[in-house]
Amino acid sequence: MLTEKFMFTDIYTNSRAHLIFHICILALDDTHFFWIYPKLVAVSDKIAFANPNAPLYPRLALGKSWNEMTVTWTSGYGINDAEPFVQWGPKEGDRMHSPAETLTFTRDSMCGAPARTVGWRDPGYIHTSHLKELWPNKIYEYRIGHKLNNVTYIWSGNYQFTAPPFPGQKSLQRVVIFGDMGKGEVDGSNEYNNFQHGSINTTQQLIQDLENIDIVFHIGDICYANGYLPQWDQFTAQVEPIASAVPYMIASGNHERDWPGTGSFYENMDSGGECGVLAQTMFYTPASNRAKLWYSIDYGMFRFCIADTEHDWREGTEQYKFIEHCLASVDRQKQPWIIFLAHRVLGYSSCICYAEEGSFAEPMGRESFQKLWQKYKVDIAIYGHVHNYERTCPIYQNICTNEEKHHYKGRTLNGTIHVVAGGGGASLSAFTSLKTKWSIFKDYDYGFVKLTAFDHSNLLFEYKKSRDGKVYDSFKISRDYRDILACTMDSCPSITMAS
Ligand SMILES: [Fe+2]
Repeated sequence: MLTEKFMFTDIYTNSRAHLIFHICILALDDTHFFWIYPKLVAVSDKIAFANPNAPLYPRLALGKSWNEMTVTWTSGYGINDAEPFVQWGPKEGDRMHSPAETLTFTRDSMCGAPARTVGWRDPGYIHTSHLKELWPNKIYEYRIGHKLNNVTYIWSGNYQFTAPPFPGQKSLQRVVIFGDMGKGEVDGSNEYNNFQHGSINTTQQLIQDLENIDIVFHIGDICYANGYLPQWDQFTAQVEPIASAVPYMIASGNHERDWPGTGSFYENMDSGGECGVLAQTMFYTPASNRAKLWYSIDYGMFRFCIADTEHDWREGTEQYKFIEHCLASVDRQKQPWIIFLAHRVLGYSSCICYAEEGSFAEPMGRESFQKLWQKYKVDIAIYGHVHNYERTCPIYQNICTNEEKHHYKGRTLNGTIHVVAGGGGASLSAFTSLKTKWSIFKDYDYGFVKLTAFDHSNLLFEYKKSRDGKVYDSFKISRDYRDILACTMDSCPSITMAS
């Protein structure tokens, strides 16, 4: 049943580069927007881009060391056409030029259809420049340049960012984390599959609150291009206001990586033939091998260990060893807030999808990792993939280890709090009707989570809805270093010299 109607002017370009103007009615029934009664009112003269090669969509990411910021962008200039670089420097200080590396790929790099067939489009060139030896928390300005062979310069607009804090630095540090956002359009007029209903709201909330965000983690299922390559450009355009100002760190999801016979842990076709090439090229990550997207990040008082669930993580694998090293090598006196991130739910979820399997998580995930989370006292693990929000009690081996729900004070949690934050934008996932005893808060809605470290002893966790940016769930951790040192079950050797 139709409930609302709006008059709209619809403008788009046709295949011969004319602007087409329609007047139409946008109708809304219980679940969908759709167009009715389009009426052609005008056709423009032929139009063209002022410079189709212009540098676009700068996106920041942390580099391999804490004091390095990388800038990645897309252009139509190959290395024989122009020299790509970033002009940058401290606000109101001297400017320098840092050269950029240039990547691209061909249709042959795609693993199957539609990425190799109807979804293929020449991606242009993707450049990354490394801005090094930054001073902690200093504001830097930058713009992208291409020096053409005839010695003219093509410039982007002007941008700025705040340099990261050094590992262990005591300062206010605010981190936003979500998965599965995808891309969208305000009027939906060019939507391909209308799957990511919450995407625009999430993006707009982050833009509105950007002055209170220092770094963003989008933990997999990034734009759901699924082999239709131009959608990556739609996505990088959508997140540009965020990604050009704060580091935009990604993890790999099934919709970026999975393809049969290509080494992905899951042998499905969710990437539409991209088999990870787009994700690892369009966004920089400080992984030692960008085809295997696991890495660690030191950000002030935080250590993030980011897993790649689309590659084998089980005990004995290269990835498992990396994650253990990431968890084991952190100095908790300097970086007390250790956060495990992954796309698929390796811990706990009440999603109907996992409940039907009886595992309440990705099979083998918990069995593989819970000894590490416990041994290295990981406070919080956050996942996407399941499109809703859920928070567990601190938990180890299916048993809640702490009865507190909102303020964990003065001692170790004895377990890990597992959070699903996959409500970034893609169609929501239903919960099971079973009552899962470890689940503290569930929300069937779009949203994201925010971690705020005030100092080495105080951390605030918040879940915010994308529709209004308000907090709907939260907890605090307050404790001293000695509390982290205390032994809990399976976190210290059972026999010591003292005993
Ligand atoms: Fe996913």
